[in-house]
Amino acid sequence: MSAGARITLLPGDGIGPEVTAAAQRALESLSRVSGLGLELDVAEIGAAALRSHGTALPPATLAACESSDAIFLGAVGSPSAPTATEGLTPEQALLTLRRHFELFANLRPVPRFEALTSLAPLKAERLDGVDLLFVRELNGGLYYGRRAEQSADGDAFDTLSYSDREIHRIAKVAFELAGGRRQRVTSVDKANVLASMRQWRRAVTAVGSAYPAVQLEHCYVDRLAMDLLHRPADLDVVLTGNLFGDILSDEAAAIAGSLGLLPSASLGASTFGLYEPVHGSAPDIAGAGLANPIGALLSVALLARHSLGLEELAVRLESAVDEVLAEGLRTPDIAEEDSVILSSTELAAEVTGRFEEAWWQSRVPLMVV
Ligand code: IPM
Ligand code: MN
Repeated sequence: MSAGARITLLPGDGIGPEVTAAAQRALESLSRVSGLGLELDVAEIGAAALRSHGTALPPATLAACESSDAIFLGAVGSPSAPTATEGLTPEQALLTLRRHFELFANLRPVPRFEALTSLAPLKAERLDGVDLLFVRELNGGLYYGRRAEQSADGDAFDTLSYSDREIHRIAKVAFELAGGRRQRVTSVDKANVLASMRQWRRAVTAVGSAYPAVQLEHCYVDRLAMDLLHRPADLDVVLTGNLFGDILSDEAAAIAGSLGLLPSASLGASTFGLYEPVHGSAPDIAGAGLANPIGALLSVALLARHSLGLEELAVRLESAVDEVLAEGLRTPDIAEEDSVILSSTELAAEVTGRFEEAWWQSRVPLMVV
């Protein structure tokens, strides 16, 4: 990546601005240690943009995103925002962005922190060896199918359809990633009931035949919802359509210990990507300094890895998170009896402080005595 990469920050709604402040701090650290001179700009989205611009996705926001190398988004969604029958909702602004940039591949790794083992509702032995990556299709399925809020007969409907092209390209991402991991893909469908899901299964199988080293299993979504709790360590890459991935990745957050910990990367054909924590806007705790910044910080690590090509720094940022949690520094959602409770800002500062310090120390030339 050449110097001067540009990142657009979209704080959005609820706790979005708080976690975006944490992400910004991490991006500034990255900029300092990499010498890349990252240029950060901020634009409005969601209910916040609706209030000031009358639209959840102002043209200026789209233009800022178009001229950047990556986007960081905090969260969208507000209980007081208009509904779909009244105009573009905050959620639709995000869906428009995902589709506008053809960000069809949503990577949702489920981070496992040794220090947080007792927070997961599963027995410790079930958590041994868990290393899960969701690959969620993000540009199709029920989210974008033909729909009516009120059809001719008065009922609302949504439709589920997937083209072979859409399935092939997301399946390819899953198989490629599995190749560098434990060589397993679990494809999730509902082929026993839905025609579109039978097509999903056929198309995934076809792509899989080009990856003989990767073991492919098909699993019905209801069964997978249970398997996630029974045998999470057996799963490696979990490949899903848009809606199933949305649901199952929240379920998997319980394995990590809190929804506040999960990052995501939405990618297309190039290195451009949109990075957002999985947690959403959590309006009930907005503005109180309670938001867990770790999903956002780990999303910055994904940004460094996939959009800036800074693998080593991504790993270092992830390690800094690990270290801080191991020392018992926590936000309230992941607090235990002997934890030190910090605000979002304080916890983010601990992580970025350690990240930078470790980096500069690694650069000190060895002294010969
Ligand atoms: C997510 C969110 C979004 C989704 C909403 C905010 C549109 O829940 O990223 O998981 O459903 O994809
Ligand atoms: Mn979701």
